[in-house]
Amino acid sequence: MGRSRTPLNERIIIALDVEHPEQAKEVVKKCESHVGFYKVGLQLFMASWFETVDWIVDRGHRVMLDLKFFDIPETVKLAVEQVNNRGVSFATIHGNDPIIRAAVSARGDMKLLAVTVLTSFGEEDMRAMGMTQSVKDLVFFRAKRALELGCDGVVSSGLEAEKMRSELGEKLLIVTPGIRPGANIGDSGDDQKRIVTAGMAIKNGANHVVVGRPITRAKDPIKVIELMQQDIISAS
Ligand code: C5P
Repeated sequence: MGRSRTPLNERIIIALDVEHPEQAKEVVKKCESHVGFYKVGLQLFMASWFETVDWIVDRGHRVMLDLKFFDIPETVKLAVEQVNNRGVSFATIHGNDPIIRAAVSARGDMKLLAVTVLTSFGEEDMRAMGMTQSVKDLVFFRAKRALELGCDGVVSSGLEAEKMRSELGEKLLIVTPGIRPGANIGDSGDDQKRIVTAGMAIKNGANHVVVGRPITRAKDPIKVIELMQQDIISAS
């Protein structure tokens, strides 16, 4: 689906980073009038395996399964096969060549997104690991490679989205975590480092934004969603 045709209720993907499936179901029930796309990550998947995934899909919503596969090619291939044909819309893998090739060879009906560089990873972390490239260059390099090898898209911060969108074209799906309300830009107050607002991410070319704590820990999640959706409309 083209970027501009993505329905408003699928622009935000809510990250269900909670301990129990019942808590995840509560969040979905509370937010489903406004949001029809949910992310199941490691914590919730460990707690409920496919139970919550199937429940969300059966309710008519879309699911991003964010398990960030990273293993030898054969194991990645077999893991992707386990996810096929369950109604999952997006699944994530790490963005290096053998992993991408293996995952693409096994992909069924879902879109595969390659994680470029985690949004909690900043320039100083790159230096500490002895890497001389900028985060922006590394993200771009990995995104280009992911696309060439048959991935449908990438997970990256909104800071790198603009260059990827203009140089890699409309076909690439860009899904952006590290979203914080305007007041937090500059310092998220948590582990996220490469942060932008929902509107900035969409303006820079993202198809979807992933939002966890700003919604799931809010006193009034619907209010936060409505503000973010307004921001997205203004930026589209
Ligand atoms: O709570 P918050 O909005 O920071 O949640 C962001 C979500 O996106 C988390 O579930 C995290 O695992 C995920 N994510 C990320 N950075 C990536 C890929 C996924 O923050 N590069």
